[in-house]
Amino acid sequence: MKTIDELLTEGVAGRRVFVRADLNVPLDGTTITDDGRIRAVLPTVSKLAEAGARVVVASHLGRPKGAPDPAFSLAPAAARLGELLGADVAFATDTVGDSARSTVAGLTDGQVAVVENLRFNAGETSKDDAERGAFADQLAELADVYVGDGFGAVHRKHASVYDLPARLPHYAGYLIATEVGVLKKLTTDVKRPYAVVLGGAKVSDKLGVIDHLLERADRILIGGGMAYTFLKAQGHEVGSSLLQEDQIPAVREYLRRAEEKGVEFVLPVDVVVAPAFPDLKTKAPADATTVAADAIPAGQMGLDNGPETNKLYASKLADAATVFWNGPMGVFEHPDFADGTRAVAQALVDSPALSVVGGGDSAAAVRILGFDENAFGHISTGGGASLEYLEGKTLPGLAALED
Ligand code: 3PG
Repeated sequence: MKTIDELLTEGVAGRRVFVRADLNVPLDGTTITDDGRIRAVLPTVSKLAEAGARVVVASHLGRPKGAPDPAFSLAPAAARLGELLGADVAFATDTVGDSARSTVAGLTDGQVAVVENLRFNAGETSKDDAERGAFADQLAELADVYVGDGFGAVHRKHASVYDLPARLPHYAGYLIATEVGVLKKLTTDVKRPYAVVLGGAKVSDKLGVIDHLLERADRILIGGGMAYTFLKAQGHEVGSSLLQEDQIPAVREYLRRAEEKGVEFVLPVDVVVAPAFPDLKTKAPADATTVAADAIPAGQMGLDNGPETNKLYASKLADAATVFWNGPMGVFEHPDFADGTRAVAQALVDSPALSVVGGGDSAAAVRILGFDENAFGHISTGGGASLEYLEGKTLPGLAALED
């Protein structure tokens, strides 16, 4: 994989460099609630601009349906990128149309432009190679060189991630190089004990990675919405908590394999419950109580790990040499249900382990809860991408940069 340093050595002054970033940031209306992904691409963009490149930054945001949709405009992200760079950033209101072409043509050496959300064009995510290829052909006209730096999207076989690099000289940006460097440490010669904390809503999103981890991790700690399917699989009632009934056989099989392989599977011993999902806008008190994990009353919904679980999980992380964490432990956006996620983050901060926080949600949680990012070994910008990397899958966006 050629890196951006090689490109800089070759020289970029006056060349149009297409940077595929992942600016898929959480938005509240047009307000960015966590700009971590924009800051993560700054080293690449600023280095290229300083070297005199005409930088064309492109990304997806959210999941619009292949047509322009103002709710998913990249305009707020472009404005924030300009603030962070301390420079004017031009914004094209389309992806490959008149606005994009004239904006790029108007760039001078060292200037940066952002084009509108790539998913406003159906070709970006199309399953049809020809349709994706046609969009990639149009994108290729905007640039002379391609730099892949959208780590969060490398698991997507999308036009700008997979097809475009085949059409231009291509290089990996600093973010991708860093992310891959750290994740490699979790797949080769991992330092033990290796503990993994998995949370988030759905077990089904984590099946592949659990499968992989059963062969590699020493301890797997489960939290978040997915914990309730595990508790149910152990024969406990879970009230109105999130439950994936269809995953219970798979979960039972994981618990069996973990025992066979001596992998410690740790589940919540107590949980914070409430009668209904909390209001995340008003953050009004949610009538929360703590109950034993094997005694969730009917009509109550588990929304966070309880205090005993938090202590237990901290103790399981204290002596780990490597920790990978993906997925919040509860509905951390509401103050009544943030302690479980906060406790895991604190345990990682307190531990000397190599701690890798993977995932859009857990990374955002760490920042939203006010932790210093530098206290963690690495905060990945990729949720699905880091999980698929750990599963050992071939990631289209990385494979495209290898050739
Ligand atoms: C993410 O948020 O994980 C990445 O930006 C990829 O987004 P996607 O899941 O919509 O492809």
